[in-house]
Amino acid sequence: MSERPQVRPADGRLGVLLPGFGAVATTFVAGVESARRGTAQPIGSLTQLNTIRLGKRTEARSPLIRDFLPLAGLEDLVFGAWDPIPDDGYESAVNAGVLDRADLDPIRGFLEGIEPMPAVFDREYVRRLDGPNVKEGKNKRELAEQLRRDIQRFKKEQGCDRTVMIWCGSTEIFLRPGPAHQTLEAFEAAMEANDPAIAPSMIYAYAAIMEGVPYANGAPNLSADIPALEKAAVDGGVPIGGKDFKTGQTLMKTILAPGLKARMLGIEGWFSTNILGNRDGAVLDDPDSFKTKEESKLGVLEHLLQPKMYPELYGNLYHKVRINYYPPRGDNKEGWDNIDIVGWMGYPMQIKVDFLCRDSILAAPIVLDLALFLDLASRAGMSGIQEWLSFYFKSPQTAPGLYPEHDLFIQHKKLKNTLRWLGGEEPLTHLGLDYYGQE
Ligand SMILES: NC(=O)c1ccc[n+]([C@@H]2O[C@H](COP(=O)([O-])OP(=O)(O)OC[C@H]3O[C@@H](n4cnc5c(N)ncnc54)[C@H](O)[C@@H]3O)[C@@H](O)[C@H]2O)c1
Repeated sequence: MSERPQVRPADGRLGVLLPGFGAVATTFVAGVESARRGTAQPIGSLTQLNTIRLGKRTEARSPLIRDFLPLAGLEDLVFGAWDPIPDDGYESAVNAGVLDRADLDPIRGFLEGIEPMPAVFDREYVRRLDGPNVKEGKNKRELAEQLRRDIQRFKKEQGCDRTVMIWCGSTEIFLRPGPAHQTLEAFEAAMEANDPAIAPSMIYAYAAIMEGVPYANGAPNLSADIPALEKAAVDGGVPIGGKDFKTGQTLMKTILAPGLKARMLGIEGWFSTNILGNRDGAVLDDPDSFKTKEESKLGVLEHLLQPKMYPELYGNLYHKVRINYYPPRGDNKEGWDNIDIVGWMGYPMQIKVDFLCRDSILAAPIVLDLALFLDLASRAGMSGIQEWLSFYFKSPQTAPGLYPEHDLFIQHKKLKNTLRWLGGEEPLTHLGLDYYGQE
C-alpha cells in the first residue's frame, strides 16, 4: 500500500449538507441531537460504537475507532438541507412517522431551526412528488452556481471549517451514462443547454465537488457515478462514494449469501418482495424510479456469487425483486425473502426470511458514518471513489474496469484495514499479523 498520509486534525465545526430532508435525513439529525443530549444511543454506527483490534491478539489493543483516529465529534456537527417541500425538520420528521413524538418533542426547537433551502428539483426525474420550495434559473449551470453559493453562505453563517454532502433525496428515474457525462467540458456544456441527461442529483454532486466538499450518494440514481464527476473529484482532491445505502433486505442478502457460498451450497432462486408505505415507497411506485432501484438491488447476487466461476451452483439462479407501495405500513417496511437452495446430490431446501424492518432506523447511522469517514478521508488527502466505504452501499461505485465487492465481510475487512493504515498500524491479514480472534 502507498505511504501513509498525514491526517489533518478535526478542528472546528463540520457542516453536514443534506439534499433531501425526508425520513432518512430527519431521523439522522434527530438521532445525533438526541445522542448529544445523552437521551439516545447511536446504535448501528461504527464511528460511535465499534472498536478496532490493533497488532497481535496478545497485545490486547482494541480502542474505539473514534479514539484511534481523529474523527469529528458529534458536538461539532451542524446541519443544512435542501428540499422542494418546505417543511422544517420537526414537521418533516412528524410527517415521516419514523420516530415517536416522545423522541421528537424534546428536540422540537432544534429540529424547527433547520429549514430546507430551495431545492434544485424537476418533476421529470421524480414524478410522484412536487413542492414549491424550488430554485429558478435560466439553465442547469446557473442552478449549480446557486447551490455553490448556498454552500459558501452556509459555511460562513454556521462558522464551519469543513462540510460534507450526503444525498438523502428521492430516487430519480433510471438514466444510463451518455456522452454528456464523459468529460467535465461536456457536462458543463450540457448543463448550459439544459440537456435532460443532467439530473438534479448530478447538479448537487457537481456543486459539491467544485466546492471541494466530499459527496456521497445514498440513493441508486447515477449522481456522481459518471466519468466527468469522478475525474473532477480526483483532480479536485475530493473524496466521493455511492450508491444507495445498504439497509434492510439488501443488508440481509449480503449477510446470508456469503455464508451460503462459503459452504458451497447452491442457490436456484431468490425471490424478494417488500411492502412499504412511506414517501420513498410512493416515489418507487413510479416504474422509472423503481427501475433505478431494481438495477441497484439485482446486481448484488450476481457479483457476490460469481456464477461464471460456479456455474453448477449459481449458473441458473432466478433473482426477482419487488417493491410494493402499501400506505398502512408507513416507514415500517416488511421484506420477505424466499431462497431456494440446493444441497448434497442436488436435494432442494428452502429458507424464508421475514424482516420487519425500519429502513430509516438502519439508514441513519450510515449517514453519520459516511459524513465522518468522508471528512476523515478528505483530511487525509484521499480523493475520488472511496472503495473502502463500499460497506455502506448496495451498489458500490468502483474505479473503471473493476467489479464491485458486495460481500459484507470482505467490505468490513477492507474498511477496517484502511482505518488501520490511516492510523499507522499494520493491516490484519492471514499472512501478516496473527489473524485470528476478534477484529
Ligand atoms: N430508508 C432507507 O433505508 C434507504 C435505503 C437506501 C436508500 N434510500 C434512499 O434514500 C433516499 C431518501 O429516502 P427517504 O426514506 O428519506 O425518502 P423520503 O421520500 O422521506 O425523503 C426524500 C426527500 O427528498 C426530497 N427530494 C426529492 N428530490 C429532491 C431534490 N432534487 N433536491 C432536494 N430534495 C429532493 C423529497 O422531497 C423528500 O422530502 C431515497 O432515494 C431512498 O431510496 C433509503
